Amino acid sequence: MNEVEGIRESKYDIDPIYLKRWSPRSFQEKDIPKDVLNSLFEAARWAPSAGNAQPWRFVLANKKSDRDKFLSYINDGNVAWCRHAPVLVAVLSKKEEERFGGFNQSHAFDTGAAWGYLALEATRKGLITHAMGGFNKEKAREILSIPEEYAIHAIVAIGYQGGKENLSEKLQSREKPSDRKLIDELVSEGSFSK
Ligand SMILES: Cc1cc2nc3c(=O)[nH]c(=O)nc-3n(C[C@H](O)[C@H](O)[C@H](O)COP(=O)(O)O)c2cc1C
Repeated sequence: MNEVEGIRESKYDIDPIYLKRWSPRSFQEKDIPKDVLNSLFEAARWAPSAGNAQPWRFVLANKKSDRDKFLSYINDGNVAWCRHAPVLVAVLSKKEEERFGGFNQSHAFDTGAAWGYLALEATRKGLITHAMGGFNKEKAREILSIPEEYAIHAIVAIGYQGGKENLSEKLQSREKPSDRKLIDELVSEGSFSK
């Protein structure tokens, strides 16, 4: 199934995986083998970071009892679809780094790269990922026992893509790959102009 053809086009030559990765909401209720799941964390592990501090941390919900804990702090609008995902992952980062004199200014930037690697490896493995910011961070911190020195960025639903028919009509209408801004809208040369 190449759903992105005709919707997503790159003007310049890139690996097709960048276009292929998107964020569907329909999941098959099918488990992910542990070694496949570990490949995603393996990819994330190799992301670059300031001083190689590797500030990213992940809390994995692979068992139903753990997924239920996650669902208890995710917004209803997201629970409507992500409750069918076999895996939910909380993406965190360590804010402190002693070597940097305390605060690691790059903790969020670096963790964004790690999640990007994870998502692309998932695509390569025939999986889908869908990140969510729509959840209660205070509740997540309490329920998952996350210490204050770790920032909580997103919950990512991971699994095998299901058919559109599993979704409500409203979500079915949104179940398609999105487009992007043009390079000209993003890149200015010499000094900032966008
Ligand atoms: C940090 C972050 C938070 C997001 N939060 C939500 C969310 O709460 N609910 C949702 O349905 N999608 C959420 N998304 C998915 C984005 O809407 C989606 O990535 C974006 O529209 C681009 O589409 P694509 O991923 O299909 O290319 C989030 C994505 C990111 C990276």
